Amino acid sequence: MTRTVFVTGARGKTGREVVAQLAGRGDTVVRGGSSRSSQEPTTVAFDWRDRSAWPKAVEGVDAIYLGRPDVQDSAELVTQLIAAAPGAHIVLVSEQGADRVAADGWVRQVEDAVTGNASRWTILRPSWFQQVLTDPRYFLNAIRRERTISLPTGGTPIAWVDTRDIAAVAVQAIADPTAHHGKAYTVTGPEAVTTTDIAANISAAIGTEVTASVPPLSAAIAGAAPWLAEVVGDMFGRVHDGTFATVSDTVEKVTGRSPRTIREFIAEHADQWRV
Ligand SMILES: NC(=O)c1ccc[n+]([C@@H]2O[C@H](COP(=O)([O-])OP(=O)(O)OC[C@H]3O[C@@H](n4cnc5c(N)ncnc54)[C@H](OP(=O)(O)O)[C@@H]3O)[C@@H](O)[C@H]2O)c1
Repeated sequence: MTRTVFVTGARGKTGREVVAQLAGRGDTVVRGGSSRSSQEPTTVAFDWRDRSAWPKAVEGVDAIYLGRPDVQDSAELVTQLIAAAPGAHIVLVSEQGADRVAADGWVRQVEDAVTGNASRWTILRPSWFQQVLTDPRYFLNAIRRERTISLPTGGTPIAWVDTRDIAAVAVQAIADPTAHHGKAYTVTGPEAVTTTDIAANISAAIGTEVTASVPPLSAAIAGAAPWLAEVVGDMFGRVHDGTFATVSDTVEKVTGRSPRTIREFIAEHADQWRV
């Protein structure tokens, strides 16, 4: 039986991998959502701020891969999208350690919007994405131009995960909602590494020194809206206390494959940091 899946953020770091992996399956029709116009025949208009296009995006879907919108009213938007697609299996991208966030915290409220409203759901709680190292909105340009990686981790390691592995877990969940309904999976890479380790690995890969710096948290939240400063501050609190350093066996257990290491990611993408 063919199943139809709607993927929010289909051009994003996890969404694009989910689309690619689902497209390789013969039993799935993929509909990718984007807030920017696209010529792709499998892409539909989807903007969290424009509900008029939602019915077309979610019409007849069996599952939604839901990249959490990082906006203050995220829980409300997620609740409304689920109401527009009753019966759909929701696979939510949350974040590692969400279970340690206070019940009234933003991260928990978004998860609760899914678990409290979807008839079938799976929560993914990934660690930090390896792909931020090649994303121009995160670290790509600092590594290329300034040869630095600056992160207020307090020196604590993180179990960085490749978004292709997050997508592989999501695709298994989408393919078998009965087996994965009601599950919250922590999704990590195979090892936790410090920013200094990453800088050393990139340096070796490109033959030019890249340095790591550990600024104070205040630098990361300077100028942010109060709600966002609280969310980001709470997240870095979980980085500092080692929550994001915890390694899970989810990728291996759910997909049958070992997760990719950050060393593999760096070797594969070294060209992007050479100038
Ligand atoms: N980055 C990490 O290390 C990390 C770790 C754990 C959890 N997370 C969480 O994972 C989620 C995805 O993060 P990410 O860094 O992967 O994001 P991302 O790569 O920037 O992808 C987000 C996608 O959202 C789409 N988008 C932007 N504005 C939109 C709008 N108004 N309406 C609908 N879609 C919109 C964008 O695509 P279009 O422009 O094509 O619409 C983009 O592809 C976030 O909730 C984040 O907090 C991230």
